Amino acid sequence: MVNNLVQTTLLNCSLETKLIEAYHQKVNEIHRYLETTNDLTGWVEYPFQNHDNLLLEIENAANEIRTVADVLVVAGIGGSFLGARAIQDALTPYFGNAKNGIEVIYVGQNMSGAYINQLIDYIKDKEVYVNVISKSGGTMEPALAFRVMRQYMEERYGKESIERIIVTTDAEKGLLKKMADNSGYRQFVIPSDIGGRYSVLTPVGLLPIAVAGIDIRALMQGAKVAALEMQESDLEHNHAYQYAVTRHMLYEQGFKIELLASFEPSLNKFHEWWMQLFGESEGKQKKGLFPTCVNYSTDLHSIGQFIQDGSPILFETLLHFHEIEGDFSVPFDTRNEDGLNYLSNRTFNEINAISKQGTALAHADGGVPVIQLELPKLDAYHLGYLIYFFMKACAMSACLLEVNPFDQPGVEAYKRKMLELLQEEKVTT
Ligand code: PA5
Repeated sequence: MVNNLVQTTLLNCSLETKLIEAYHQKVNEIHRYLETTNDLTGWVEYPFQNHDNLLLEIENAANEIRTVADVLVVAGIGGSFLGARAIQDALTPYFGNAKNGIEVIYVGQNMSGAYINQLIDYIKDKEVYVNVISKSGGTMEPALAFRVMRQYMEERYGKESIERIIVTTDAEKGLLKKMADNSGYRQFVIPSDIGGRYSVLTPVGLLPIAVAGIDIRALMQGAKVAALEMQESDLEHNHAYQYAVTRHMLYEQGFKIELLASFEPSLNKFHEWWMQLFGESEGKQKKGLFPTCVNYSTDLHSIGQFIQDGSPILFETLLHFHEIEGDFSVPFDTRNEDGLNYLSNRTFNEINAISKQGTALAHADGGVPVIQLELPKLDAYHLGYLIYFFMKACAMSACLLEVNPFDQPGVEAYKRKMLELLQEEKVTT
């Protein structure tokens, strides 16, 4: 079945059809490798597996949390944090999270003392649950945050804290697994063959997303449809691979920066998830596109100048959803002092969509290659689809670059240095 919910259009990309065809065989080979290797590719088949029991367990836990608590504090970083926050932000109201019944807030994604201090103060009058997420079970930032949260929960709730702390980690390995077993915390398992940034559709993302009131079955269904479509090995029919090849060819032509842009502010955090996925998967061995993001209209009035007119080092990937829930009509005003009555038969979403078209055309005119990715609707189903689309495209892209999409040796470097410094401090204090 080839349906391709993501429609791709190219503007100002001088990519010869012949050149694209030259990638057919390579794409086929990489496709076969991704389908058959066991090297952290559990996410490829994951949407096809039967997760009914797991989804039920997650929904039950989420309902319990939504009934008892005001706030779920999620401790995690990188792939154990960005996906959940991306979906939550994209699909919950702009104002007053409380509308959704419960707030999901994050900790352990930074080491700011001010942040954790204010968080502890913020939750003091609220009913709290904690979900700590770490595949390795030993990452410094979430481990430190969990140390604080665990003590807080024990002091505040005593034995009941055991019920209020949920651990998402490996089935067997790691310090967090040991702590969870020793204390008898409820646990969700991160499959050992799925790496952090490919794990948003596992309990890593699903529990916080369900607690935020989002339909995780629709999310999984969208991912399953994408997985089915992207079983297609032929470049001509696989839009994720077309996106991967296009960005790879632009990279080879000297465009070293990819800007992900959208016109809906609720997608800001989705951009950050995408940046991690591509940046951590591709940026190695002195290779890779630098992934960054902009949010329009806001950034059209700042960095937009550079995009249109600055050094020709970047291309733009415009992400657009045709239908967004909620809209507002421009009011008619008899005074018309601002001269805007000609827009009074339009809605904001309509004007936003036209602004998107105008921006794509202007940037293409300015020499910026533009890839447009369009989906029918901003909802859980289509985001599930898009997540899988990007994961498949990313793995393909990294393999085209001949780097391993599933490791992150550069991240380990900073951890080693930080630990060395902290150990030195220990010796001298
Ligand atoms: O993509 C990755 O593997 C990383 O970004 C990890 O998710 C991140 O380093 C957090 O690791 P962990 O879940 O082991 O705490």
